Amino acid sequence: MSRTAFTSRTDEVSRATSLGSRFADVRRATLAIAAPLSAEDCLVQSMPDASPIKWHLAHTTWFFETFVLARESGDYRPFNPDFTFLFNSYYEAVGPRHERPRRGLLTRPSLDEVRAYRETIDRRMADLIARAPDAVLDVIELGVHHEQQHQELMFTDLLHAFATSPLRPSYTPVASIPPPSGTAATASAAPLAWVRFPEGVHEIGHVPENGFSFDNEMPRHKTYLAPFELASRAVTKGELLAFVLQGGYDDPDAWLSDGFAVRTREGWSAPLYWEKKDDRWFEMTLGGLVPLATEAPATNLSFYEAWAFARWSGARLPTEAEWEVASVDPSCGASIADGNFVESGALRPLRARPTTGARSLTQMFGDVWEWTSSSYAPYPGFTPVAGALGEYNGKFMCNQMVLRGGSCLTPQSHIRATYRNFFHPDARWQMSGLRLARDVR
Ligand SMILES: [Fe+2]
Repeated sequence: MSRTAFTSRTDEVSRATSLGSRFADVRRATLAIAAPLSAEDCLVQSMPDASPIKWHLAHTTWFFETFVLARESGDYRPFNPDFTFLFNSYYEAVGPRHERPRRGLLTRPSLDEVRAYRETIDRRMADLIARAPDAVLDVIELGVHHEQQHQELMFTDLLHAFATSPLRPSYTPVASIPPPSGTAATASAAPLAWVRFPEGVHEIGHVPENGFSFDNEMPRHKTYLAPFELASRAVTKGELLAFVLQGGYDDPDAWLSDGFAVRTREGWSAPLYWEKKDDRWFEMTLGGLVPLATEAPATNLSFYEAWAFARWSGARLPTEAEWEVASVDPSCGASIADGNFVESGALRPLRARPTTGARSLTQMFGDVWEWTSSSYAPYPGFTPVAGALGEYNGKFMCNQMVLRGGSCLTPQSHIRATYRNFFHPDARWQMSGLRLARDVR
């Protein structure tokens, strides 16, 4: 997506080799997520926003078949001509498609047929990658990142489905969840500190020479920031519990008007997946129903709840520019390498490590996506990719809010400081939390 056109054939060959092995790794990782699940688990769709695991397995394959294989061969014969209708997500330029809320009704093709579809397309892709020119490798690289996005959605959609089951099933044993490294086995969060940033003009956005990015992260541009402070860690479930117990969900002063209307209509009185039994709080996780981890970052919050908590706390949400500037400030030590991503195996956010310096920011990457106060809008000079793939990001730049940093369900190799995730402000089934910010007066 962001490579230059001046690439030699030797560079293309070595890029094809490394992308070929990355393609294979990511495709295997998708299957590994589905491996512990039954065919019934893979068919369920618990709400229109969530998709069945089987659909994710097929749709990510359809992406490569449609945007790579079919385009590279004039006489391409599709694996199954019906699959374009069944597994097109939202690409108007590709044609009509099966209704999203009815994906859970697709008892056919079977899960075995979808696995066979994946195997066939993987073989065809392996042949193509070895001889693909740079422009095709660009689309394949996009497809690999697209599949990683769906890997996270597979977890969040599955958790939503399991949370609707009276059995509250577990995807992974809780006993397998490791504690954060380098911390004592206590159940309290690190104390919150404030890190100050001076006013100034900063550059945000992706630099093309740094490798892949989505089109929505470009162009890099200047932005002015007034002085601000950012919290050293994410807001915890214990802090959200205080908000719940002290009437925060019923306090209209804390809420945006739209948010209070949704809270009222939906009957929200606590974050999604929280349950109270005999005065004890529990939460539904991928490890099943467990006691509320008060020391860990709050998650499954909508933008509206994050906004209300921040206002109730006498603070606010950071803008996405504030978040990005802080995340790359070398004096703050935020590090993708140290983040709790899906590779940790925890599959849920973990207690913050104690900070190591006066300006340390922890949990910036991994654990929970952090809501910002920024609308998902085009950067100055934004140009969508030409053709059908221009629908990937640009057409959603209205009525959604930006989240930053990745989560415990995000593959580590998928995230960047400039990465802009986005969801509607009432969405709460993602691994979404918040970090407080405040003005400096
Ligand atoms: Fe997709």
